[in-house]
Amino acid sequence: EGYNFGMIGLGVMGRNLLYNIADNGFSIAGFDLDAVKIRELQEGVTSATKVISTATVEDFVAALESPKKIILMVPAGVPVDAVLYSLTPLLSPGDIVIDAGNSYFKDTERRVADLKEKNLHFMGIGVSGGAEGARRGPSIMPGGDLEAFKLIQPMLEAISAKVNGDACTAYMGNGAAGNYVKMVHNGIEYAIMQLISEAYDLLKKGANLNNDQLYEVFKEWNSGEMNSYLLEITRDIFKQKDDLEEGFLVDQILDKAGAKGTGKWTSEQAMEIGVSIPNIDTAVTSRILSAYKEERTKASQIYSKNEITSPENTELFIKEVGEALYLATIISYAQGLALLVKASEEYSFETSLKDVVKIWRGGCIIRSVLLEKFYVAYTKDSDLSNILLDQDISEIVKTKISSLRNTAAFAAKNGISTLGIQSALGYFDAYTTESLPVNLIQAQRDYFGAHTYQRTDREGIFHTTWQTAII
Ligand code: 6PG
Repeated sequence: EGYNFGMIGLGVMGRNLLYNIADNGFSIAGFDLDAVKIRELQEGVTSATKVISTATVEDFVAALESPKKIILMVPAGVPVDAVLYSLTPLLSPGDIVIDAGNSYFKDTERRVADLKEKNLHFMGIGVSGGAEGARRGPSIMPGGDLEAFKLIQPMLEAISAKVNGDACTAYMGNGAAGNYVKMVHNGIEYAIMQLISEAYDLLKKGANLNNDQLYEVFKEWNSGEMNSYLLEITRDIFKQKDDLEEGFLVDQILDKAGAKGTGKWTSEQAMEIGVSIPNIDTAVTSRILSAYKEERTKASQIYSKNEITSPENTELFIKEVGEALYLATIISYAQGLALLVKASEEYSFETSLKDVVKIWRGGCIIRSVLLEKFYVAYTKDSDLSNILLDQDISEIVKTKISSLRNTAAFAAKNGISTLGIQSALGYFDAYTTESLPVNLIQAQRDYFGAHTYQRTDREGIFHTTWQTAII
């Protein structure tokens, strides 16, 4: 009898996912080009599980039962194609290759088509939850061929996180839907992280809170309706002492943010299919801007800022920053989810938004109690185009909007950069405005380029010969 599954790529994520699969009673073979990683895999194996590590890709493939179900956990891009190049000649019709990395969805579409020519199934599945999630229960976003999906569904349900007994995995749709949903998950992750960093900056610079006080504030925020994984880890970060110097580690970390690309892809995608997601756009651009450390230092000397006028009532200020963060977070989810609605139409994914928010409730990086509210909203109306249109969500929004305005105003007055908070407010105000001033933009376009316009009072396309005003 061959092994149930195979895993190629035994880095931290691949190895942890493999152990998780083995813990759930499935036998699994592991392979990596790096002999050290193969040895490390063997060292972590317990007698209770059925795990084998193989030295060559040929041995690896030969060890598996048919149809072979092979999971790839290798870096996105060229490494995936390199693995497929050596792997696919060894496979037989009906075998399934499952890419569990953060692959770009268009790469997945291409690979699905390439492997289909060889009668092989290729699936892209999003896995979120970091190293710990992979080991103990991630959120899993599978997409692709439905028949192939059914063969791996029991395993995915077994290894994923659980919320109220529900597995945090569900079929996300056709083709590259799994990678797409994971990409948008990461875009939302970027947006929320940006907002949290701005709240931190406002409390630190605006209200002079130290790390102990920040810990207390985040602890309180995380214990109520704002409860989320990202707030929880933020709380803990403020407690972490530095190993190398006196004081807290967070204060020693250089303010240049890294990025591996999924946030940028989300923004590019939204532009491509015409969806407005300014919170994700600004989160991406903020990370880019953060890298100009030397220039920022120079500019800060040229444009020195006035001293910050501390809020009159610190407690009220903290409360309002918290509510602003909460509302801006809702608005960020709203943008990402709206992108998924449009993408599902555009690419015929047939993604169920209700299932998306359901499986994001646990295991993933953007899990939060808010997702439960979104789940209720999509249960009432599965065709909801934007969660801001839901009655219950709108009630929450209405109670927090003045805090978002006050916080944005405080930041603007005091020169504290808040691209995320300002974007959330700007999006909200535009989205909730019946008549925008783009009538003027249409007039200008028609004036200089005869681009035509539509009218509010009658059907049709119009062009005017605009008159230069006589001075
Ligand atoms: C997850 C994370 C994971 C990874 C991010 C980091 O859901 O588990 O999103 O996929 O940590 O891709 O992205 P950046 O390096 O671009 O911040």
